Amino acid sequence: MNSEPPKATMDGLPPAAIEGLPEQAVSVKGLTKTYKAAGKAPAKLALDDVDLDIPRGSLFGLLGPNGAGKSTLINILAGLVNKTAGAAAIWGFDLDRETRQARSAIGVVPQELNIDPFFTPFELLELQAGLYGVPPAERRSHDILAAMGLADKGDAYARTLSGGMRRRLMVAKAMVHQPPVLVLDEPTAGVDIELRQQLWANVRELNRAGTTVLLTTHYLEEAEELCDRIAIINHGKVIACDRTESLLARLDNKALTLIFDRDLPGVPEVLNPFAPEQTGARRLLFRYHASDSPVPQILDAVCGAGLSVIDMSTEETDLEDIFLQLTRGAHEGSGRSEDGDKGAAA
Ligand SMILES: Nc1ncnc2c1ncn2[C@@H]1O[C@H](COP(=O)(O)OP(=O)(O)O)[C@@H](O)[C@H]1O
Ligand SMILES: [Mg+2]
Repeated sequence: MNSEPPKATMDGLPPAAIEGLPEQAVSVKGLTKTYKAAGKAPAKLALDDVDLDIPRGSLFGLLGPNGAGKSTLINILAGLVNKTAGAAAIWGFDLDRETRQARSAIGVVPQELNIDPFFTPFELLELQAGLYGVPPAERRSHDILAAMGLADKGDAYARTLSGGMRRRLMVAKAMVHQPPVLVLDEPTAGVDIELRQQLWANVRELNRAGTTVLLTTHYLEEAEELCDRIAIINHGKVIACDRTESLLARLDNKALTLIFDRDLPGVPEVLNPFAPEQTGARRLLFRYHASDSPVPQILDAVCGAGLSVIDMSTEETDLEDIFLQLTRGAHEGSGRSEDGDKGAAA
C-alpha cells in the first residue's frame, strides 16, 4: 500500500475528516479510445471524448446499451485497456503519472467471472491481498467475506459456490486492499432477481460504509433503484449525467392533446389554469406531471365549458424514452447499432 492510504469517507463528515480527500473519486477528461482495426474488423471508436466526474461517496451508475463503451471506460480505469487520448484520475491520482497510487485506490469487479475453482474464498482473498502487497497483519479477509454475506463460506471450495456467491466473492476480492473506489462492471447481468437484491444490498452497504461505487449496467431499473447518480452513455459518448431524482423528474412529464370539434379562437379561459398550448386550430396540448394526475380536472373543465372533444392522445416519457431521445440526439452515424431499435410509439 502507499504510505498515506486515503481512507474512504462518506459525505457529511466533519471538515477535518474530509480534509485532503478528493472531491471527485474518479475524474475523466476527454477520454478517448479507438480499438485498432484487426483483420476485417475496422477500427472502432469506443469512447469519444468523454468527460465524467464521479463524486466521492456516490453510488454512481454508468448506464448504456451493449456496445456503448461502458466496459472500455472501466477497463481503462482498471489498467486493462490503454486509452488513446485524454486523462483519468482515481482518488485524485493521475492514471499516467501516479499509476501505482491510482491503482491502489480502485478495486474492479470485471464483467466476466473468473474465479479459480480450486481455492477456497479465504485463500483467494489472501492471495489477492498478497498481490496488492497488503501485509498479513492488515488483511481483513474474514471481515470482507462477512460483509459480502460469505462468512460461512470461507473454507468452501469456490467451485461449490452458487453463481450469486461467486459474484459476491468477486466483489470481496476487489475489496481486499480496501480501496476507496469500487467498480463493478455489469454486476447483475445474468443474475436472478433474488440474488440481484442480495448483491444490491451488499453494494449499498459498502457504499454506506464510505466506499464510492461505480457500476455499469444496461438495466434502467437497476440504475434507477440503486444509484444516486446516473450517467447515460451511448456510442462512446456521455449523453446525460445527473442525480437520479433529476433524471427521473424528467420522466414524470406527460403530454395530453385534445382535439375539438370546432376551431378555437384561443385557449378557453376555464383551461388557463392548466396552461395549454394551442398547437392547431382545434388542438390543445397540455403538459403535466403524471404524479399530479390533472387529467380528470382538465376533462371536467372542458365539459363544463361546453366544449366537445372528438379525439385525444397522450404521450408518456419513461426512462426508455429519455434514453431513446438522448441516444437519437447523440447518434454519430457509426453504422453499427447494438441497441435494439424500438419502433416509434403509435
Ligand atoms: N478489444 C476490442 N477490440 C475491438 N473492439 C472492441 C474491443 N472491445 C470492445 N470493442 C468494441 O468497442 C465498443 C464498446 O465496447 P464495450 O466497451 O465492451 O461496450 P459495453 O461494455 O458498453 O457493452 C463495441 O463496439 C465493442 O464491439
Ligand atoms: Mg461491457
